[in-house]
Amino acid sequence: MSETLSINLDPRLLANELSSLHLINGALVPATSGETFDVIYPATLEVIGKAAAGDRDDVVSAVAAAKAAQPGWAGLSARERGKLIVECGRRLTEHAEELGRLVALETGKALRTESRVEASVLADAFVFYGGLGSELKGETVPFSPTMMTLTQREPIGVVAAIIPWNVPMMLMAYKIAPALVAGNTVVVKSAEEAPFAVLRICQIMNQVLPAGVFNILSGMGPECGGPLVAHPDVGKVTFTGSVETGKIIYRAAAEKLIPVTLELGGKSPMIVMADADLDKAVDGAVGGMRFTRQGQSCTAATRIYVEEPLREAFVEKLTAKVNKLKMGDPLDEATDIGTIVSQQQYERVTSFIEIGKKEGATAHELSALPQAGSGLDKGFFVRPVVFTNVSDESRLTREEIFGPVTCVYGFNGLEEALRLANDSVYGLAATIWTRDLKTAMTATQRLQAGFVQVNQNLVVMPGLSYGGIKQSGLGREASLEAMLEHFTHKKTVIINMT
Ligand code: NAI
Ligand code: MG
Repeated sequence: MSETLSINLDPRLLANELSSLHLINGALVPATSGETFDVIYPATLEVIGKAAAGDRDDVVSAVAAAKAAQPGWAGLSARERGKLIVECGRRLTEHAEELGRLVALETGKALRTESRVEASVLADAFVFYGGLGSELKGETVPFSPTMMTLTQREPIGVVAAIIPWNVPMMLMAYKIAPALVAGNTVVVKSAEEAPFAVLRICQIMNQVLPAGVFNILSGMGPECGGPLVAHPDVGKVTFTGSVETGKIIYRAAAEKLIPVTLELGGKSPMIVMADADLDKAVDGAVGGMRFTRQGQSCTAATRIYVEEPLREAFVEKLTAKVNKLKMGDPLDEATDIGTIVSQQQYERVTSFIEIGKKEGATAHELSALPQAGSGLDKGFFVRPVVFTNVSDESRLTREEIFGPVTCVYGFNGLEEALRLANDSVYGLAATIWTRDLKTAMTATQRLQAGFVQVNQNLVVMPGLSYGGIKQSGLGREASLEAMLEHFTHKKTVIINMT
């Protein structure tokens, strides 16, 4: 437990080293079946390594390890667990550059603008939750003078976390840090596309944590994630991904009557009022759309409603700004925008762009593909697109695209903006841009979303509850409440004093 792993800044070597392995009960082990699948660098389609194809047998081993480790882990004081989690954060900071490069290689997210940023904020989640051990407290209840009545927080047991590929390290951190501090042990199922950076994190943390406390499997959703959710010893599932898979997991959890946290998709509106600071709003749209992450974000500002007097100028400034972003090799420091993560996502995103064009919307296709002959010809590069003249009923307006595609619409007056913004099955994030206090306050009250911001478009931050309403999910993450409500149960204790 006191070893230190050496830092490996060559992501290809590291991917190779981590190939074909799960981490179960403190040890790197291959899949029981010996099966693997290829992991690619989406900029060149080069195979960078193999992931272990976990199935039911691996799930059984990982859950058994987590179950066996749980009483000992919960038997440490909460502050002691917290200190170990803070130490994990410290070590992850030492490995930040290595992790940034590795996640850039497997996801195609540009190193400078995205992957390194993800790696550098990762430790924050561990430091934040590590400090909250002593907040796992109960209450005394003034029920009767002859009865001492109190509540106490207890861990659930074994928690399963199923994570996606878009921000795999950070999304995993916001699941496992609170689960562990609360005294649970965890089994993570990584995303097919991005198994290595999270496996590396698990390896680093296993230098600090007792064996079996944090286990990780790679594998396909139905073959590995399915049996994990269904395992009788898993007492809680926390998931980030598509609405479709979220519903499958919710149904499976219902069979066992266990709690779930679901962070699902979004179609987040951004409302720009005529009195807004135009340049700030344009910057907010570029950042909020996560163009540098190829729009692969559940909170991406994909429906931008601009009040008519500003609409034309807004589109002009937005397209000019996005046009300046440089697409290229994700590992190149000069690159702003890397690639889409996989062929499946590439086809999905490009098909939406085709739909928009066929419907007669105006497609402003921006930036430029990497030059022919740069070795990137086969890569999953998609030029960012700003659509205008899109109908409210278009699939572009209705469905999550999860690519560098946003639509700008016009409106007149706050009432119309709120009606359009709320006309969605999703309710994850929303922003409004205005200098008027009353407009801002009215909008924050009436926007149907779990995360609403005025005149800014920031990402998830420790301490602030994050999550959606409507089909964007169930539960909250990233806050103290998230740990207490989603990773513990409350026991009521009554002591008769007569
Ligand atoms: P997905 O929801 O299918 O995959 C996410 C995770 O769930 C992966 O680890 C996957 O292996 C696992 N999974 C899939 N089927 C499962 C099952 N039956 N049982 C248990 N686990 C299962 O998402 P995918 O296919 O990667 O992307 C499809 C769409 O989902 C994207 O286009 C995007 O719209 C949305 N998405 C949303 C994300 C978010 O941050 N909310 C992240 C990733 C995708
Ligand atoms: Mg899927």
